[in-house]
Amino acid sequence: MLSALTEKLDSLDLNKVDYLFREYYFDFGLPSSKFVAFLLNQTGKKLRPLLLLLSARIAGDINENSYKYATIFEALHTASLIHDDIIDLAELRRGENSMNQQFGNKLAVLTGDFILSRSLSILAQEQNPEILRVYATASEELCLGEIQEQQIKSSGKITLDKYFEVLRLKTASLFSACCEAGVLSTQGPENIRQILRAFGENLGIAFQIKDDLLDFTGNVGETGKDTGKDIAGNIITYPILSVVNDLPKHLQKEFSHYSFSEMKKLITDYSGFKKTEDEILKYSSICLNILDRLESTDKVEVLKKIVKLNIDRKF
Ligand code: FPP
Ligand code: MG
Repeated sequence: MLSALTEKLDSLDLNKVDYLFREYYFDFGLPSSKFVAFLLNQTGKKLRPLLLLLSARIAGDINENSYKYATIFEALHTASLIHDDIIDLAELRRGENSMNQQFGNKLAVLTGDFILSRSLSILAQEQNPEILRVYATASEELCLGEIQEQQIKSSGKITLDKYFEVLRLKTASLFSACCEAGVLSTQGPENIRQILRAFGENLGIAFQIKDDLLDFTGNVGETGKDTGKDIAGNIITYPILSVVNDLPKHLQKEFSHYSFSEMKKLITDYSGFKKTEDEILKYSSICLNILDRLESTDKVEVLKKIVKLNIDRKF
C-alpha cells in the first residue's frame, strides 16, 4: 500500500520498523510478549513512521535514530488504538479482532501501558531531551483529545470549534510530532522542522476528517473496522456537524434517536458528505501549499502523494 510510494527512495525501509518493534517490545521476555506478538500480526498502514522517515530524509540523512523514533511513534499510535478500542467497545481493528475482543479489557489496558512504559525506557537512554519532549507532549495531547471527546459526548454540547480542537489533540498532534521527530533525528534545520510540523498538523486534520467520513461510508473489507461506531457511541463528527444548521426544526431531534441508516440518509439529503469531502480538500490544499515552501525533491513529492492518497483512500 503506502510502502509502494517509497520504492524508488533508497535507504528508507519500513520493514526495519517491524524488525525494531519486535526487538523493543517482543523479544523482551515478558508475558506481554504474547500480546505484542498478536500486534505484530496486525500490520497497519504505517503512515506515521513513513511520515517520520520522509521528514528525516528531507531534513538530512536517515540514521539509526530515525528508525528508533519511527518505531517508538508507531508503538505510541498502536498503544493509543488499543486503549481507544476499549473505550469505543470496538471489536474489529485492522481486519482482525481488536485486542480487547481477543484478550479482554484488562490485558488490553496493560499491554498499552507496557508499550508506553517500554518506549519511555528506550527514550530515557537517549541524551536528547528534545525527543522526549516531543514524545511526551504528543502522548499528553492524545489523552487530552480523547478525554475532551468523552466530555463533549457526556455534555451533549458539540460545536465545530470543539470538534476541531479534539481532532488537533487526538490525531494531528501525533502526525506533527512524527514529522518533528524525523527532523530531530537528523538534527535538521529549524525552518524545515517548523514547515514539516505545520504540514503534519494539517495532514492529521485532513486524515481524521476522512476517518470520520469513512465511519459512515466505508466498507469493513477495506477499512478493517466496523462502520457506524461514532454514532453508536454518540460521537458527533463532521458529516453531521456540516448539516446540523440546515436541518428544519422537526428534524433537529437528539441524534441518538436516529438509526445509522437514517442518519446517513439525512446527511446525504443535506449534502453533508459532499461538504465533508470539501473540508478534506481544504486541509489537503493547505498541506500542499506548506510543502511548496520546501525545495521540490522526490521525497517532497511522496509527501504530496500521501496528501492525495488520503483524499481518495477507502482504507
Ligand atoms: C482513534 O479515534 C483514537 C485516537 C486517534 C487517539 C486515542 C487516544 C487515546 C485512547 C488516549 C490514550 C493514549 C495513549 C498515549 C495510550 P477514533 O475512535 O475516531 O478512530 P477509529 O475509528 O480508528 O477507532
Ligand atoms: Mg475508535
